[in-house]
Amino acid sequence: MSKPSVINIGFCGLGTVGQGVWKHLSASRAALEARLGARLELYRVAVRNPGKARGVDIPAAKLTTDALAVAIDPAVHIVCELIGGTALAREVTLAALARGKIVVSANKALLCESGAEIFAAARKGGGHFFFEASVAGGIPIIKALREGLIANRFPRIYGILNGTCNYLLTRMEREGVSYADVLADAKRLGYAEADETLDVQGWDTAHKAAILAYLAHGMWVKTDQMLVEGITRITQTDIVHAAQLGYGIKLLAVITRDFEANQLFVRVHPTLLPRRLVLANVDGVYNGIAVTGDVVGTTIYIGRGAGQDATASAVIGDIADAVTLLTSGKSVVVPDEAAAIHAGGRKGVKLAPLESICSRYYLRLEVRDQPGVLAQVATIMAQNRVSIESVIQRGSRLPDAAMLILTTHQSNEQAIRTTLAGLAQLASVLEEPLLLRIGDFEE
Ligand SMILES: NC(=O)c1ccc[n+]([C@@H]2O[C@H](COP(=O)([O-])OP(=O)(O)OC[C@H]3O[C@@H](n4cnc5c(N)ncnc54)[C@H](OP(=O)(O)O)[C@@H]3O)[C@@H](O)[C@H]2O)c1
Repeated sequence: MSKPSVINIGFCGLGTVGQGVWKHLSASRAALEARLGARLELYRVAVRNPGKARGVDIPAAKLTTDALAVAIDPAVHIVCELIGGTALAREVTLAALARGKIVVSANKALLCESGAEIFAAARKGGGHFFFEASVAGGIPIIKALREGLIANRFPRIYGILNGTCNYLLTRMEREGVSYADVLADAKRLGYAEADETLDVQGWDTAHKAAILAYLAHGMWVKTDQMLVEGITRITQTDIVHAAQLGYGIKLLAVITRDFEANQLFVRVHPTLLPRRLVLANVDGVYNGIAVTGDVVGTTIYIGRGAGQDATASAVIGDIADAVTLLTSGKSVVVPDEAAAIHAGGRKGVKLAPLESICSRYYLRLEVRDQPGVLAQVATIMAQNRVSIESVIQRGSRLPDAAMLILTTHQSNEQAIRTTLAGLAQLASVLEEPLLLRIGDFEE
């Protein structure tokens, strides 16, 4: 393969992220070219509306509305897919990979939905797919897992991967305001999408967890194979009681691997995190990830999880790797099955059964305020071998009711689910209980 000295970069999409990449690439082009030993040409740009005012100067001759034409243009070496969504983005990505090109993407939804197909297309066509910006914005977590931590297998990775949820929970904690009030304000300020569902119900975090699990364990776990719970039912009561018990509440992705049983489990849920842990103190729109490797121990990464500049930083890092690959002919360590097998063996890995997922739990119940109710609750828990660690009773917003806040000793997902089903049968339990996991992680 001849090694080009001019690298042509084609953009599919020039919105928030694309403009950030264009802006920073243009500003640092001379320095990057000197370091990479190749000239970088911002070659062609596909957008939906060429007449739209943009924050960057683009010669009109470079603009097109045909993203596929950019992806298959023989002169383009690197395709930056920054359109988003899963339809056109998939078409563009597969077309470029089939022609042996390098695709750089920030598209977690596409990767999560079609990751296996994309990597297969890259292997078949001789192309490469880089996706640093798809998880945790500016934090180079993919490079860390893929390269810096290559000596390790990963028994546990947990992280705050959604800046919107972290922003909402942080403001609830600091300002004592309700979820609904802080969400409305976050929308007004642009920190939450008009439709916040994907973020607050945990699906965005689940997409990112799937990507991290694939990198660490070589297996695509579908979001419907995960436990996914969001933050919408968290109240000030939970925040205040968690704080009194020494915890902050964070929406976490938790990826655990039992290497002896060869079992993997991926879950996303709000978690009571002990204040002594670094991630319990990662606040606002920041993301944080704690990666435990069997060789290195725990390493922690914190940074901006989204936004134009942080995401552009990750995309440009991928472009630099792509240029190195094109000019040296040497492959950076791309995630393939061989790498994943090294990192712990994909062969035979199974999803862990619920009873093997252990935790302590926090349970908030609204119950009828009458004698014997606590005994009924305790009986159901005992029947399921869930042992109570502490109970607090408070007034309820419901008439003739009381609120019970319980924490449990170590139990497991199967036992706690059966407990919840049993509690739901009690006439004295007035609402669906709120269940939160307690993350007694070590660092
Ligand atoms: N924004 C972030 O902070 C962030 C962070 C991490 C990852 N990401 C990911 O980065 C990707 C891009 O996000 P973004 O926020 O930059 O999105 P965006 O602002 O909506 O930009 C999308 C771009 O794609 C173009 N486009 C849409 N449909 C097209 C079509 N049919 N043909 C040609 N061009 C088309 C749009 O053209 P027009 O400009 O003409 O409308 C626009 O330039 C997504 O996968 C997202 O999940 C974003």
